[in-house]
Amino acid sequence: MIRPKTKILVDGGDPQETRRAKELLGAIDGQTTNPSLIAKNPHIKELIASGHKLSNREEMEEYKKIVQTISPLVGDAGVSIEVFADEKTTTSEMLDQGREMFLWIPNAYIKYPCTAEGLRAAQMSVKQGMRVNMTLCFSQQQAAAVYAATKGTKEPAYVSPFVGRLDDIGQSGMDVVKNIKRMFSKGDGHVLVLAASIRSLEHLLHCFVLEAELVTVPAKILELWANKNFPMPDSQFRYKTTGTPIPYKELDLEQAWEAFDIQHELTRKGIERFAADYRATLSRPM
Ligand code: E4P
Repeated sequence: MIRPKTKILVDGGDPQETRRAKELLGAIDGQTTNPSLIAKNPHIKELIASGHKLSNREEMEEYKKIVQTISPLVGDAGVSIEVFADEKTTTSEMLDQGREMFLWIPNAYIKYPCTAEGLRAAQMSVKQGMRVNMTLCFSQQQAAAVYAATKGTKEPAYVSPFVGRLDDIGQSGMDVVKNIKRMFSKGDGHVLVLAASIRSLEHLLHCFVLEAELVTVPAKILELWANKNFPMPDSQFRYKTTGTPIPYKELDLEQAWEAFDIQHELTRKGIERFAADYRATLSRPM
């Protein structure tokens, strides 16, 4: 297999999938997890099916075991661990979780949502030397805010534009990746683009064309890629989308993060969905 420049992460919550992907590709650069993926972990599903719902502490312990199993399987792109957040979660509640999770494994990236609370938590986290991955990003403005909030980070921060969920609402999700890459080409390189919500081989190949620094991919798509003998996009490759194009905006990366319009309906819905999937595993939902 010819390795692309783009680092490849497994998008999942089951170490068995990571092992399988590693066998197929020879090496895996990293992993991303989220509350929905953790709720789908086979052991957690078994517990719930047997009638054992978890306390909040047990849920954290299960999450920790999962990422501790995955951590040594992957390379330097690390393992992204997502804090629990709903619309009421404060910056300091996110930060407390982030600090604890960051100690679980040596290669942790803490995932905070692209909301005002999440950006504040990220700003404080990077000052304390933590690595962050800003999730539920659906716009160039949100990525610009991530850039501004994480200035001074010791190690590059990640921003995760969600391609598939934008496609789902009839927009061209890959345009957000393209626009953020273009905007960051004028920056200092402290934020890397981690393309997420990847649903097809075409998404994956287009991420290579756009030179996203990282892409997180469900194991089943990596299997599909392997089964086709790892095709790479050549000069004939054309990414086809029926989604409405998302235009590029000139934004000034030197502004404070508060200056950017970070509202996005899909960020709000994404938080709701993650919170609901997390709560479904709990005996006493928070
Ligand atoms: C990874 O960081 C994201 O949480 C994930 O890619 C979301 O994918 P989905 O939109 O298919 O749920």
